[in-house]
Amino acid sequence: MDFEFTDEQLMIQKTARDFTQRELLPGVIERDEEQGFPSDQIKMMGELGFMGMMVDPKYGGGGLSAVAYVLAMKEISKIDASCSVAMSVVNSLVCYGIENYGTEEQKERFLRPLATGIKIGAFCLSEPEAGSDATTQRTTAILEGDHYVLNGTKNWITNGSSAEIYIVIAQSNVELGHKGINAFIVERGAEGFEVGAKENKLGIRGSDTHSLHFKNVRVHKDNRLGEEGFGFKLAMKTLEGGRIGIAAQALGIAKGAFELALKYSKERETFGKKISEHQSIQFKLAEMEMQISAAKLLTLKSAFLKDVGKPYGVASAKAKAFASSVAMDTTIEAVQIHGGYGYVKEFHVERLMRDAKITQIYEGTTEIQKIVISRDLLK
Ligand code: CAA
Repeated sequence: MDFEFTDEQLMIQKTARDFTQRELLPGVIERDEEQGFPSDQIKMMGELGFMGMMVDPKYGGGGLSAVAYVLAMKEISKIDASCSVAMSVVNSLVCYGIENYGTEEQKERFLRPLATGIKIGAFCLSEPEAGSDATTQRTTAILEGDHYVLNGTKNWITNGSSAEIYIVIAQSNVELGHKGINAFIVERGAEGFEVGAKENKLGIRGSDTHSLHFKNVRVHKDNRLGEEGFGFKLAMKTLEGGRIGIAAQALGIAKGAFELALKYSKERETFGKKISEHQSIQFKLAEMEMQISAAKLLTLKSAFLKDVGKPYGVASAKAKAFASSVAMDTTIEAVQIHGGYGYVKEFHVERLMRDAKITQIYEGTTEIQKIVISRDLLK
């Protein structure tokens, strides 16, 4: 076991950290308040290579490891989880899906603009009645000649209105159950494709989460991703890596809140001394640090397994379930350490607490991760 990062990984971590201080921290409170999508910041992230980090350089990507991706995701999430969720969806879901299951032509056409940050992508699996139970797809994609005709609604779609390239999962043959599900690449502007209402969310308020409507949207069969009937498995395989990204996001949110609480505890005085000198605060800080360290190990292990080509689906489920719970617990404690100041926006920790909650919900709830883990135990 080697617990040292490479020089390249450390350099990426530093680049991400410098970028967040310079470009994400100013304005993060306002973006949260106004639900402002960080389009300028995402553009800069694309220019820095953060949107296609693991993609093969021959398609314009960084060719980097999942470990490097975790380090960058963590840094960006410490400051602005609305930016990091956009980054996570593009890297882990859209780029991964196209690079691993797309044809050469699809990679040239769609992967390159995503990996180089020219276009944003979205991954459309969830529906009003299909969240955790993802096989129950109601969106249909019926083959008519050379085109599939898509009808239905997708919900909770990250990058919903800012994306230009969408991976859409839909049912083509209901009698075949999950084996009748396909994945498609749909472009913004396709006739009959409408971006619906924006969600007014508790956290990650800068992220644009929308419903999407498909009314007789014709998608050429060349835009099907993967073999006929492979759509559900493609979604599941893709989400295995997505969960590494969300684990890293949760880790970053926890670490960001912890660093603020640690700093505050060394400044704030009560009963004639710094609050960090009270044992009640020391115990909280120690507990937070232990939890974050454990979450970090689980998250990096899942990334490491991906990098060395070993199965990582169960490891990423463990990392995501654990790190998201650490994010929730740590941010609540960070607010508590700040007292009344923790409850107001200027001190950042209340936002991190609200942002933490989504990591227990999207890309599979904690309960879904426990299904994945227990099925593996009992198989
Ligand atoms: N890799 C490959 N194949 C897989 C797989 C995986 N990880 N998981 C399941 N499969 C296969 C199974 O082998 C099975 O195939 P066969 O019939 O050929 O054996 C098929 O898929 C069906 O599997 P299950 O019977 O296990 O399916 P299930 O209905 O019991 O569901 C589940 C399994 C784990 C609960 C799954 O539905 C799931 O992960 N649900 C959560 C969905 C989710 O994470 N949604 C997030 C939306 S995306 C998002 O949030 C992005 C964003 O915007 C931030």
